[in-house]
Amino acid sequence: MIDLRAARANPEPVRAALARKGAGDAFDRLLEADERWRALVPRVDELRAKTKLKGKPTPEQLGQLQAVKAALKSAEDELAAAEAERDTLALRVPGAQLACEAPMACGYGACYGCVVPRDGSFVRLCIEGPVLLAGAA
Ligand code: FES
Repeated sequence: MIDLRAARANPEPVRAALARKGAGDAFDRLLEADERWRALVPRVDELRAKTKLKGKPTPEQLGQLQAVKAALKSAEDELAAAEAERDTLALRVPGAQLACEAPMACGYGACYGCVVPRDGSFVRLCIEGPVLLAGAA
């Protein structure tokens, strides 16, 4: 199995091993897609944080909030597309694992707040994840 986090830190041995299986290019494209996804996550988090105001907003803050929400929607769409691309490319790399993210509430499998679609069904990331085999997507 390939741990994408470990592969990010030291990609050459992983790439060499996958190149012997004919998946070196797929691994390179996966790392690029993963980098695009990882670059978008902080931007989305930052915009989400900006939507949380303390107290009753002023009319000026409401105007700014509308702009932030529009930017957040755009960034979330971009993030979802990047994640889908990364997950699709991971399917082409034998043994790749993905670290998935979802908001968690209970953390022990009771609330289903952390479900993600997998293999035509859903899995709870707090129980079955957060690292999933890419081939099981
Ligand atoms: S966080 Fe509640 S089921 Fe996963």
